[in-house]
Amino acid sequence: MKEQTIIKFLLIGMVVMSSCYYDSAENLYPATDCVTANMSYQTNILPILQFNCYVCHSADVNSGNVNLEGYNQVLLSVNNGKLLGSIKHASGYKDMPQNAPKLVACEIAKVEQWIKDGAPNN
Ligand code: HEC
Repeated sequence: MKEQTIIKFLLIGMVVMSSCYYDSAENLYPATDCVTANMSYQTNILPILQFNCYVCHSADVNSGNVNLEGYNQVLLSVNNGKLLGSIKHASGYKDMPQNAPKLVACEIAKVEQWIKDGAPNN
């Protein structure tokens, strides 16, 4: 094996190992400093969607006919239960984000609380 190839494998291995470690650390030690009070769509929820979902669910991409760009569009997925079901990996829903690790527990808790608050456009 060429030296370069070995180094590549080592690097890939490190990335894979660190992502596994990250997952289990999240599950073992759920964030205790997760603030879910007074969630704001603009400040708290929109950035989560932009960062994790817009690559597939912007108005232009619209994967699976799910558009999450704009409050009114997001509200459709809130009201049919699919937004929360998919990010919580609940049975009967497609696991989201697709082909990527589950959102961290605090992000899911924020979305869930915002929905419990009535999903305000604030
Ligand atoms: C890599 C692309 C990709 C990413 C990233 C992604 N999705 Fe999806 N999403 C899809 C595809 C494709 C479908 C349609 C899946 C199907 O019908 O099998 C889908 C379907 C859905 C559905 C409908 C689920 C259902 O049970 O019918 C919801 C809601 C959804 N996505 C929300 C999200 C949210 C919220 C995020 C971010 C946290 C996200 N998606 C990230 C590709 C993606």
